[in-house]
Amino acid sequence: MSDPMRRLTDNLRRSSIVRFLDHFARLFPDGHLKDLVVDELGPDRTMAVGGHRVVNFGSDSFLGLDRDPRVIEALERGAREWGTHNGASRAFASVRANAEAEARLARWLGTGSALIYPSVTLANVGAIPALMGRNDVLAVDAHAHNSIQEGAKIAGANGAKVVTFANSDPAALGRALRDAGPSRASMVAVDGVFSMSGTLAPLAGLNEVALEHGAILYVDDAHGTGTLGHRGIGTVRDALGGYDNAVVVGSLSKAFSCFGGFVGCSAEVKELLKMRSSTFIFGGPVPPPYLEAVLAALDIIDSDEYESINARLQTNVRRLVAGMRRIGLAVLGGSQPILSILVGDEADTLAAGRFLFDRGYYVQSVVFPAVPYHAGVLRIQANANHPPGAIDGLLGALEELRRAVPMPGPEALARHAA
Ligand SMILES: Cc1ncc(COP(=O)(O)O)c(C=O)c1O
Repeated sequence: MSDPMRRLTDNLRRSSIVRFLDHFARLFPDGHLKDLVVDELGPDRTMAVGGHRVVNFGSDSFLGLDRDPRVIEALERGAREWGTHNGASRAFASVRANAEAEARLARWLGTGSALIYPSVTLANVGAIPALMGRNDVLAVDAHAHNSIQEGAKIAGANGAKVVTFANSDPAALGRALRDAGPSRASMVAVDGVFSMSGTLAPLAGLNEVALEHGAILYVDDAHGTGTLGHRGIGTVRDALGGYDNAVVVGSLSKAFSCFGGFVGCSAEVKELLKMRSSTFIFGGPVPPPYLEAVLAALDIIDSDEYESINARLQTNVRRLVAGMRRIGLAVLGGSQPILSILVGDEADTLAAGRFLFDRGYYVQSVVFPAVPYHAGVLRIQANANHPPGAIDGLLGALEELRRAVPMPGPEALARHAA
């Protein structure tokens, strides 16, 4: 390694996040369950990892469309029709499937227009600085997804005043906007569903405060897409009645089980994003076969069939929530397929994930810095295709876990929220 390269890596090793993560990796060489290599995905949401078969409760493909023959066939047909990638920025050209997917997504959402990006991360990192710049005020929920925070940093570097407000607290938002002072334009950025807890943002209350201060809402609804609202359109229309004062971001990779993200907005905002959004202009598109798959997934989601798939998902969510509450666990969320159990201590959270894995159930142990320090959770994702036996099996393992590892009860939820 050259000397300059050594100097660089030595410096990076001294950064606080790397030191913290190194420390954890040394403390829990076996318990961490990070960087898993999945050898095989089997039926009924099972997967094989290092010769060990587990039921996967760690997938965002909530509706099970990743295994739907119609979505798979569309992907294959798309590859035959368009090849694997068209290899051009959309600022130059887009395949017909891209234009069709945007028109269909906008109709389904009721937003007027939609603009597809290759991921929600790239949507946030591109759209937020496109919307907010010099003399603007951008208020960001303290628990908003990392990609919102990164987009906000770029907007800040471009001259926007970025302020943070306490998670899901309309009064704190009001104070933050008042203290920020006058602005050219202002925007409030939040998650529709917070991805580590499965809790929903109080969008109606936040919007009321935003309107009082002349701000629009920017809602990253990555986990609401396909799981909440009429035919899965997400959280925003139910909460606000429409999109007059909101730009919504959705995912094509989670419940859609395809690839990408999108911004739902008016035709005018779309036109402006296409002119001002770096990740749209200077980056590549969603590969065309996946756009065909998006259209096939949308055929299913925006149809009467959605009700029966979602009913299976909701039944599984209710079975899990009821069981976890019966066991006396502290359950965060509950109205959406991300269900997190509060554990607290980092070592206990990692040990709990390992305990379940050894008994045949994969859930994600989430610790600082993804959640606040000493607020570790077991993140469990329900799926429409989980058989009831798998859910009951996980609940049985959780009951054993409750006896083996110190876990707080529901009384801890009030403290956690405070
Ligand atoms: C709220 C939220 N936004 C953005 C993302 C990132 O999405 P993508 O994988 O499409 O970049 C996630 C991922 O889990 C998320 O939960």
